Amino acid sequence: MMPLDVPTAILQRRSIKNFKPDPIDPALLRQLLELTVAAPSSFNIQDWRIIVVQSPEQKAALGAACFNQPQILQAPVNLVFAADIKAGERDLTPILEQGLQTGAWNEGTVGYFKKAIPDFSVALGDKAREYAIKDAIIAATHAMLAAESLGLSTCMMNGWSEDKVKAVIGAENDPDIAIALVLPIGYAAEPRKNPGRMPFEFNVSLDRIDRPYQR
Ligand SMILES: Cc1cc2nc3c(=O)[nH]c(=O)nc-3n(C[C@H](O)[C@H](O)[C@H](O)COP(=O)(O)O)c2cc1C
Repeated sequence: MMPLDVPTAILQRRSIKNFKPDPIDPALLRQLLELTVAAPSSFNIQDWRIIVVQSPEQKAALGAACFNQPQILQAPVNLVFAADIKAGERDLTPILEQGLQTGAWNEGTVGYFKKAIPDFSVALGDKAREYAIKDAIIAATHAMLAAESLGLSTCMMNGWSEDKVKAVIGAENDPDIAIALVLPIGYAAEPRKNPGRMPFEFNVSLDRIDRPYQR
């Protein structure tokens, strides 16, 4: 199958609540993960931590942590998008060296980033969690659209207990790991209708929030 183009994937995608038991070919899953980590992140720190949950035991535990929503058990693969809140304060050498090697960054940029990234991370204070989750959600959005493009379906999920999901992935004792999103992926077992979107005037503005955008 030819991958769908981005506009088609965006418009065709629906949040699927029932999946077939059909497995995802490992090569296809790998391609999906490659497209997922191609997402941008603040300073390119790639602070998402993506856990591929597919064993029956882990799916059962994850399903229980997600208020027993059936998608988790039905989907052959679930991606847990976690975020490392302190990623910017860790050893960034591999990321900086890669940027040098690809030629994207020069020595000056790398020298600046060595100090600027940890400084920025510390200065974020209470906002560090929000920033890490932002990056993880951007990666999850890449996964959602890449999956659609590759013939798979997904359902972004907020319905879970963070402590329980952390325990399932083995991060229960790590205060620096936050859960951003759970994404079941598989083949749709149902048609789903588009619940629709409000007209632009409702939530798109021009220049200022009090000036509704006119189509
Ligand atoms: C961040 C986020 C969290 C969501 N959480 C759940 C969830 O826990 N369970 C569920 O069945 N659907 C969940 N959804 C799916 C929404 O209900 C769905 O996106 C919305 O109704 C629009 O439908 P569509 O995705 O088909 O356009 C979530 C969607 C988003 C973006």
